[in-house]
Amino acid sequence: MDFYNLRVPLLILAALGRCCSQSLLLTDKTNGVVGKNVTFKTAITSTMDFVTVTWSFNNGQSTAPILSHVISKNSSKIDAKYASRISYNATTGEVQLRSLMKEDGGEYILSIVNSDATLQTGQILLEVLEPITDVKISSNISEAVEFDSSVVLTCSAKGSFTYKWFNGSVALVLDDTRMKLNPNGNELTITLVRRTDLRGPIICLAENTLESGKSAPFNLTVSYGPEKIVTTQTPTDPFLKKGSNLTLTCSADSDPPAQLKWMFNGAELLQKANVTISNLEAKDSGNYSCVATNVKTNRNVVSPVALVTVLEALSGTNISNSTSLLIAGNSTVNLTCSAAVGKAETVEWLKDGKPLIPGDRVILSVDKKSLTIVQVVKEDMGEYKCLLKNKVSKDEASYKMVINYGPEDVKVKAKNAVKFEESIEIACSAASIPPSMYTWKLNDTVMNFTRAIYVIEKAKAADSGIYTCEAFNPITKMMKKTTHKLAVTEVGAVDEGLSGGAIAGIVIAVLVAVIIIACIIKRKRKSGTDIPSPY
Ligand SMILES: *[C@@H]1O[C@H](CO)[C@@H](O)[C@H](O)[C@H]1NC(C)=O
Ligand SMILES: *[C@@H]1O[C@H](CO)[C@@H](O)[C@H](O)[C@H]1NC(C)=O
Ligand SMILES: *[C@@H]1O[C@H](CO)[C@@H](O)[C@H](O)[C@H]1NC(C)=O
Ligand SMILES: *[C@@H]1O[C@H](CO)[C@@H](O)[C@H](O)[C@H]1NC(C)=O
Ligand SMILES: *[C@@H]1O[C@H](CO)[C@@H](O)[C@H](O)[C@H]1NC(C)=O
Ligand SMILES: *[C@@H]1O[C@H](CO)[C@@H](O)[C@H](O)[C@H]1NC(C)=O
Ligand SMILES: *[C@@H]1O[C@H](CO)[C@@H](O)[C@H](O)[C@H]1NC(C)=O
Ligand SMILES: *[C@@H]1O[C@H](CO)[C@@H](O)[C@H](O)[C@H]1NC(C)=O
Ligand SMILES: *[C@@H]1O[C@H](CO)[C@@H](O)[C@H](O)[C@H]1NC(C)=O
Ligand SMILES: *[C@@H]1O[C@H](CO)[C@@H](O)[C@H](O)[C@H]1NC(C)=O
Ligand SMILES: *[C@@H]1O[C@H](CO)[C@@H](O)[C@H](O)[C@H]1NC(C)=O
Ligand SMILES: *[C@@H]1O[C@H](CO)[C@@H](O)[C@H](O)[C@H]1NC(C)=O
Repeated sequence: MDFYNLRVPLLILAALGRCCSQSLLLTDKTNGVVGKNVTFKTAITSTMDFVTVTWSFNNGQSTAPILSHVISKNSSKIDAKYASRISYNATTGEVQLRSLMKEDGGEYILSIVNSDATLQTGQILLEVLEPITDVKISSNISEAVEFDSSVVLTCSAKGSFTYKWFNGSVALVLDDTRMKLNPNGNELTITLVRRTDLRGPIICLAENTLESGKSAPFNLTVSYGPEKIVTTQTPTDPFLKKGSNLTLTCSADSDPPAQLKWMFNGAELLQKANVTISNLEAKDSGNYSCVATNVKTNRNVVSPVALVTVLEALSGTNISNSTSLLIAGNSTVNLTCSAAVGKAETVEWLKDGKPLIPGDRVILSVDKKSLTIVQVVKEDMGEYKCLLKNKVSKDEASYKMVINYGPEDVKVKAKNAVKFEESIEIACSAASIPPSMYTWKLNDTVMNFTRAIYVIEKAKAADSGIYTCEAFNPITKMMKKTTHKLAVTEVGAVDEGLSGGAIAGIVIAVLVAVIIIACIIKRKRKSGTDIPSPY
């Protein structure tokens, strides 16, 4: 009855009270999760001044009471439906609702009748969220090929939430063209996936204001390559010696690892990846290239072609001569340089260590292997060397050329005069190869002497005369001669620089000789016979 009578003023007060409803409840909106608890907090510190405290629930269609507390009676009445799930704080008027159900979502109204019969109300809107479980990422494909595949990752979860995507611990960066999310945020589409796109790993976070759930890290293998194919050749030289070894290696950046094979002149070699060819032969010359294949991406890359040429090293180089006996001014010689093994690409000739300069008489054949010297001169003499080279080796041979010439420059070296019983050396010389044979003549009479130097130990008068030296080269068959006049001075020819004793001796000897001669003449006149002079 009281309640009825109070109805009109209550409604008025209620209308007035709206102004102050804010102060009753701390918020006008709260969230709860199915199965969990929620507490509607009030700003009330004491209910002592109240007549009644009433909580009711408006599910959108109708309003039903939950709890009413009559302060004076110190008794609270709870609706049977809520009895097991509700706690009421008589001091603050707060209620805690446990084991929330989806249907608990709606508006909760707190009405207070004050002791002065005024009415105060407050509302709080409860949203009951589904708990987040089973957060996971799935992909519409199980393996991807870089630049080919487009991937759709779907994040799924149970409950109420929004989605967030992470790459490792960092929020996923979307460019909204190649990588984008659907409006709902649960589908990540990656067009023409890159190897690094999904390496995070990718994590999906489903969250609401009360809780969140993380997916397991998600990795999608993105096959890529092969690319950056790298080959090595050991040794690096494109020209290799016959009998040497060649090693070729190949690698490429690829996932899964590339299958590597070597092609030789278009045919596949049996050895894979790394190839060693030992004891190279001419038939191993050709084009080598590596092919890398990724079976997942179905892509191939081919390395640049390595052109290898196998050559024989030069050995047994030799110079052969057409004629061994060369005579200056008359002979023509032909030297030919050749290697017993290997093919020379260049030929070089040296004479006495210096490059040979061809000329009118010194002619190199077109292939430079033959050197012809026409009408050799003595200056052509020397050591000839030929150097043969090819891309893998060099070899050389030398030849000592002897030119027979002369005699030239026949000279006699000796004093023009010598004293009686003194010694003298008459030396004849001639430029000649082979050395000349010498014949000596004195006053056109052949002497019994054939050496270059004629030595007279004790000159006597008979040694005077004109000496002729004839030099004869037995190979060129040429002879040249020269003469030298020698005078043996008589005993008694005074010479300056003789000692006083010697002069005295000579004077005495002359006096003795004069006396002897005088005596002889005396006797001769007596006997009438003639004695030959000792001189
Ligand atoms: C809900 O409240 C009750 C009693 O206050 C407590 O025992 C229970 O652990 C709470 N449940 C949750 C999910 O907080
Ligand atoms: C109200 O009743 C409870 C027991 O139901 C008691 O503990 C409490 O002290 C009483 N409060 C007042 C103000 O009487
Ligand atoms: C009611 O709330 C007050 C303030 O939060 C607290 O001190 C008191 O212990 C609570 N009473 C009950 C019965 O929960
Ligand atoms: C996965 O999704 C992408 C993007 O929509 C699509 O291009 C591709 O065909 C899908 N793959 C499969 C196996 O469904
Ligand atoms: C995903 O890939 C990253 C980097 O490659 C690796 O560290 C991680 O262990 C992978 N996780 C799974 C679940 O395969
Ligand atoms: C070439 O390889 C063979 C083995 O295959 C080895 O016996 C030989 O010594 C190698 N030759 C060179 C020059 O490395
Ligand atoms: C090929 O040789 C390289 C370098 O020596 C080496 O790193 C690589 O493991 C080798 N590959 C194979 C398949 O033997
Ligand atoms: C070439 O010269 C050598 C001496 O250097 C000689 O033994 C050889 O017989 C010569 N060859 C010819 C074809 O004359
Ligand atoms: C020079 O050569 C010619 C012809 O080959 C020969 O008749 C002549 O005897 C040669 N002369 C000398 C000095 O060897
Ligand atoms: C020199 O000798 C070589 C080989 O014996 C020959 O082929 C070449 O024609 C000769 N050259 C001359 C100018 O005689
Ligand atoms: C030439 O001289 C040698 C000794 O020098 C001598 O044995 C030889 O009989 C001489 N011959 C003549 C013809 O005089
Ligand atoms: C050689 O001739 C010269 C004069 O021309 C003469 O003096 C000398 O005695 C002669 N010698 C001999 C050994 O006949």
